[in-house]
Amino acid sequence: MAGPKTHAIPGVAEIDFNSEHFLKNYKQVYMDLHAGGCPFAHSSEGDFYAVAAHKEIVEACVRADQWSSKFGPGLGYQPPETPGVLVSVDPPEHTFEARLVGKAFSKTYFDSFIPGIRAFVNGKIDAVFADGRCDLHETLSEPLPLWVIFQMFGRATDPAEMKAFREGLLYGVGQMLRPSNAGTPPNPATHFLADHLAETRRRLAAGEAEPDENLLTRFISSEIGGRRLTDEKILGFCSFLLTAGSATTTILLSNLVHRLLTTPDQFAKLRADRSLVPLAIEECLRVDAPVHGLFRTNNQPTRLGPLELEPDTKVMMLWAAGSLDPTVFPDPTRFDLDRDIDQVRKHLAFGYGIHICRGAPLSRIEAQLFLEAVLDRLPGLRLDGEVVPETRAPVLQGIRKLPVAWDV
Ligand code: HEM
Repeated sequence: MAGPKTHAIPGVAEIDFNSEHFLKNYKQVYMDLHAGGCPFAHSSEGDFYAVAAHKEIVEACVRADQWSSKFGPGLGYQPPETPGVLVSVDPPEHTFEARLVGKAFSKTYFDSFIPGIRAFVNGKIDAVFADGRCDLHETLSEPLPLWVIFQMFGRATDPAEMKAFREGLLYGVGQMLRPSNAGTPPNPATHFLADHLAETRRRLAAGEAEPDENLLTRFISSEIGGRRLTDEKILGFCSFLLTAGSATTTILLSNLVHRLLTTPDQFAKLRADRSLVPLAIEECLRVDAPVHGLFRTNNQPTRLGPLELEPDTKVMMLWAAGSLDPTVFPDPTRFDLDRDIDQVRKHLAFGYGIHICRGAPLSRIEAQLFLEAVLDRLPGLRLDGEVVPETRAPVLQGIRKLPVAWDV
């Protein structure tokens, strides 16, 4: 399906979000949008509009009745016959699914991963420590979030399998800003997950697994309002979690270390006062939001600033730009550990409204344990070569290579 045709509007910036110019200068592009007094953009490439202002994004995202997710979070119109999950459904289906995920994703559940994450991070550091250098992105930022998700699913994977999933996931996320084939990303792990689900069902039926053993056994055994999940929905959840929870957290981890190594005064402040670690994580999410933005469509004719929108127009909510809105965050591009953490938490890196990220507490746990281990175990940490940006998935803003060295 194609949406209504959009068009350039005088005074509204034209941006090609897939262009090299945008990828190299996105922060300046966002700051120009804020400074120009018209925080909206149009993209002829892909045919959509975008909103950069914090206030307008928040106002739209709390109106799920008006701003729908039914065509999916990407630029493409997810066909109605494709059963989406969570970010691709509206209430009442969303309410049911969010309750189900909310039931599984308790604080106790997320906290139960702490010892395993700590051991994983320390094991990876042990393996490279004597070398005095590594690509921290490859060594830790990439494998950790994927390992955590597979722990949730109750399955270990081998490194080659993980690498294949990672490449495929990035390809899928890369499609989100493409007009066709761009609904929920195709997931490379589909066959793996289907086999694992069948095996988990068999083990449960044979009494070899407990209903609360892992996320899959929970999804299979859960019942809300007399309704159980179909295999199709469970696979949809797992596929979505794999994508939503891994590439994003990977980006956060590398951005965090990169941000600290490139602002030495703030790094020194953090070293001197470890209680600033949670603030450093939030401030990094704010300044370097891992996801540029995701889409909604309007159910009725809508006026948004200078935009007159026909129903079902794709509009990108620019989480990264809203988190740099100077009306909410003074001197927004400055990474500053003197800010008030409650104010910083108004960032939009995890979205806003009913679709706000359900895995945010887990990514914060991963970031905290990762950063503490890096601070504790890698003295004299410094950059050690060219930092390569991640450009394979333009919807993400992050790093693909982070060479670092430390004193041995
Ligand atoms: C730094 C890491 C992460 C970032 C930046 C991030 C970002 C986001 C954003 C922007 C949304 C909103 C989507 C929308 O409104 O259309 C979202 C939703 C979601 N995220 Fe995350 N995410 C992260 C980590 C995770 C993790 C680790 C998980 C789970 C393991 C997860 C699970 C979810 C789920 C289930 C939703 C859908 C909520 C709904 O539609 O009700 N995320 N995330």
